Amino acid sequence: MREELNVLRGEALRDIASATDSPALDRVRVAYVGRAGRLTNAGEQMRHLAKEERPEIGKLLHEVRQAVSAALEERTAALQSAAEEAELAGVDPTLPGVARAVGSMHPLQVLQRRAVEIFRRMGFALAEGPDIETEWHCFDALNTPEDHPARNEQDTFYLPDGRLLRTHTSSVQIRTMEGQAPPVRIISPGAAYRRDEVDATHLAQFTQMEGLYVDEGVTLGDLKGTLEFFFRELFGPDTSVRFRPHFFPFTEPSYELDVRAAALGGGTRWLELAGCGMVDPAVFEQINARRGDRAFDPDKVTGFAFGFGLERLAMILYGVPDIRMFVENDQRFLSQFAP
Ligand code: DAH
Repeated sequence: MREELNVLRGEALRDIASATDSPALDRVRVAYVGRAGRLTNAGEQMRHLAKEERPEIGKLLHEVRQAVSAALEERTAALQSAAEEAELAGVDPTLPGVARAVGSMHPLQVLQRRAVEIFRRMGFALAEGPDIETEWHCFDALNTPEDHPARNEQDTFYLPDGRLLRTHTSSVQIRTMEGQAPPVRIISPGAAYRRDEVDATHLAQFTQMEGLYVDEGVTLGDLKGTLEFFFRELFGPDTSVRFRPHFFPFTEPSYELDVRAAALGGGTRWLELAGCGMVDPAVFEQINARRGDRAFDPDKVTGFAFGFGLERLAMILYGVPDIRMFVENDQRFLSQFAP
């Protein structure tokens, strides 16, 4: 029996050492220590031994069991770590990780925030209006006649119910005065829509910033001072501003505002950047009729309004050659404006 156990140990250790994967090792385990395994059987032989042999053989059996189970355990661990190593082969853990792309603010948003911040310092509050507007808010209340080209179906997106995508943010002037008596001092950045053919300088949706100030004694001087201050803050103290007489239905007198600044193409040419003027009394009367009061009595209050597009401004300021870049969402373009 002693001899048998020694042979058994030798063979078990050899078989364990030569198992090259875990199914093979499992088979070895079953063959030796399974329910009908050779070592298990040897244990059962014990009761056929003479009493005096039992302690010695029992001790040997115990040693063999220990040796075999230690070898099995060791081999299991070795096979497992070999498998893990194989899986990691070809992976270089010292390589830098893949950085997560962090978004940046859109250039129009950067510019809009700067503009809003400057007007807020002058006491202008933010106002909002819907992108889907009634004809009345977009045109009639703004003294824009039936035959004005902006009202043409070729120029404007109409909905089947007669409403439209606002062609300018000037409708927010009307929305604000409907709901608030003077003094009114608001700016309103937002989308405007026109049925323009999309090309390098036109989009069917673009961004405007509207302003309105109504109070007793508001003058053209206030309008000039406000816009001049604004553009100087935006483009630097070397900025010059020029008011050119123009026509808008909702202001009288009306102007186009030209700006010249080093930040804008070297400061040698005048750039037409905004429309503005003194609110036409006819607009106040439309509001009064709608409100049913005389809150905007043109004999008591005056006001100025202005509006400008942000895309063109951003294109000049940042040297963007094509307006479509603002809507293509190309990270290579957008990430350059991270503030
Ligand atoms: N709404 C005009 C446009 O889209 C811009 C404008 C001109 C706005 C004069 C004004 C203004 O508030 O007074 O072309």
